[in-house]
Amino acid sequence: MAIPMTLHYTEQGQGLPVVLLHGYPFNGTIWQTQQQGLSDKYRVIAPDLRGHGQSPAPEGVYDMDTMARDVLALLDSLEVEKAAIMGHSMGGYVTFALWRLAPARFAAIGLICTQASPDSDDTRKGRYKTAENVFTDGSQVVAQAMTPRLFAPNTPEDEPIVEQIRTIILNTRPSGIIGTLKGMAARPDSTDLLPEINIPVLVLTGDKDQIIPPQKAEKMATSVPSATLVTIESAGHLPMLEQPQATTLAIRNFLDEVEQSSG
Ligand code: MLT
Repeated sequence: MAIPMTLHYTEQGQGLPVVLLHGYPFNGTIWQTQQQGLSDKYRVIAPDLRGHGQSPAPEGVYDMDTMARDVLALLDSLEVEKAAIMGHSMGGYVTFALWRLAPARFAAIGLICTQASPDSDDTRKGRYKTAENVFTDGSQVVAQAMTPRLFAPNTPEDEPIVEQIRTIILNTRPSGIIGTLKGMAARPDSTDLLPEINIPVLVLTGDKDQIIPPQKAEKMATSVPSATLVTIESAGHLPMLEQPQATTLAIRNFLDEVEQSSG
């Protein structure tokens, strides 16, 4: 088992801690609008997961459990006992791993453009192939293949958010991309966890998500006893950037309800 690493993170505000976990191969800066927009009432923590952003990117396989242990170590170091933990896409896979390890650390869960099911054989093979290509040709392989599919169809290529994401991917080190690809390929099925989640759950999806279709999110929401499903319109796989205000508002409404119902 890998030793937890010290993650880079940003933090803003005071109140119920809210931890925002980015997807692959991004970093905590994708949550900037949400961090700002929630920080008048909440303590919003946005780490860079292992291999991403300003956190270290050692060689090796980053299984979701290892990434989750890094987040637990961050919560310990910040003396956060319980938090609303929200994961985007791969960050959602890490959230499931965290739930397996330490459900008592959750005040609520956010599952944002993510899925509980594991990779199909084809997806797994594709990830290993991409890992080989990134080893040979660098992070640009992923920037080129992934960027157009991340946004709602017809998003102009010269939109600043498209450039922002391309730059983030290009700056993600090959060792981080390769480690994460192999870790995602090895992740377990989490669908059996859904009916057991006995705390408030936000399932948020983009109506134009081309990576994880909204139907998957809808199905996931029906398997959880207490889920709030929000579909952000005119958003693809990155609603926090494509529709930042609507996404912030949806998270805020959910958190406000969590706070109210917990007295
Ligand atoms: C992500 O955004 O984290 C990835 O698209 C997830 C995946 O490749 O399964």
